[in-house]
Amino acid sequence: LTLSICDSRTIWWDDGLWLIDQTRLPVELKPIKMHSMKELIEAIVTLRVRGAPALGAAGAYGIALAAQLSPSDNPFELLQELEIAGQMIKSARPTAVNLSWGADRALKAAASQDSAQGIKEAALREAEQIAEEDIAINMMLGQKGALLLEDGDRVLTHCNAGRLACVSWGTALGVIRSAVQMGKEIHVYACETRPLHQGSRLTAWELIQEGLDVTLICESASGSLMRQGKIDKAIVGADRITRDAVFNKIGTYNHAVLARAHSLPFYVAAPLSTFDLKHSEMDITIEERGAEELCSIGGVQLAPANVRVYNPAFDATPLDLVTGLITEKGVFRPPLMPPI
Ligand code: MRU
Repeated sequence: LTLSICDSRTIWWDDGLWLIDQTRLPVELKPIKMHSMKELIEAIVTLRVRGAPALGAAGAYGIALAAQLSPSDNPFELLQELEIAGQMIKSARPTAVNLSWGADRALKAAASQDSAQGIKEAALREAEQIAEEDIAINMMLGQKGALLLEDGDRVLTHCNAGRLACVSWGTALGVIRSAVQMGKEIHVYACETRPLHQGSRLTAWELIQEGLDVTLICESASGSLMRQGKIDKAIVGADRITRDAVFNKIGTYNHAVLARAHSLPFYVAAPLSTFDLKHSEMDITIEERGAEELCSIGGVQLAPANVRVYNPAFDATPLDLVTGLITEKGVFRPPLMPPI
């Protein structure tokens, strides 16, 4: 493994399941090996691996890991074990649809086999296929989205929808990378993204690694920057797109409302695997996370110990605030949606 995120993947298989521990960034780029399902679930819950497309791969590799760890050579028993592992994986984080999507794809591939060895190989093959596809799809999506950016654009983004949120390349940041590859000069404003700082720890870090032009702001600065004419467009990723709303990191809705108030385009970049058109906003559970994420940072107390805290990890942005959904099949302008 080379210690640069530009040539490495976020999650991969090498005689076992490996991932970059994103909780250690930007201080350290550290790969960790998953030795048990318990370790993988902990890694998903604590955001060592995170971001919707990376979670899709983690879901599938999780099934491959469960298969590898199982001593069973009875195909029926093994498939039952994998179903249970799938339930554990899918319930680790409820909002990003890709996690269930990836686990289900690997479970389906496993179920098509009639020997234990065949099941193990099929689950891993499917996970590897998802990882390969993720990179190719992000690049396609990037090419299509890059046509929406003009030379000199100053682009606001929120959270991390980059290489680290995917197997590689990125969705929202993939669009920016593709535009830069086309020779356009793009300046990124990265919102720090409270409470877990995916914007400052991950987005700013991965853009700087590649020499891309980035300025870090706190999210409450976005409205003021728009008002001063310093932002041309906003692009974010998505964890789930229902028929009426985009679910993404908490704070996304604020930027969308502000973009509309300042007549700026607000784009969402996501692969088709993030679309969940069978559901609407009201059906979806927004993950709520622990109070400690708001009350302390690195052991330093930031709030009174007994304060009541509400910490939703995501919000829903109604589609009428979205200028375009950038996918591998092209850009869809709501109410037009991709045919899935
Ligand atoms: O809680 P996280 O860090 O998993 O949230 C991630 C996001 O909200 C990203 O913006 C989203 O997954 C898009 S990933 C390309």
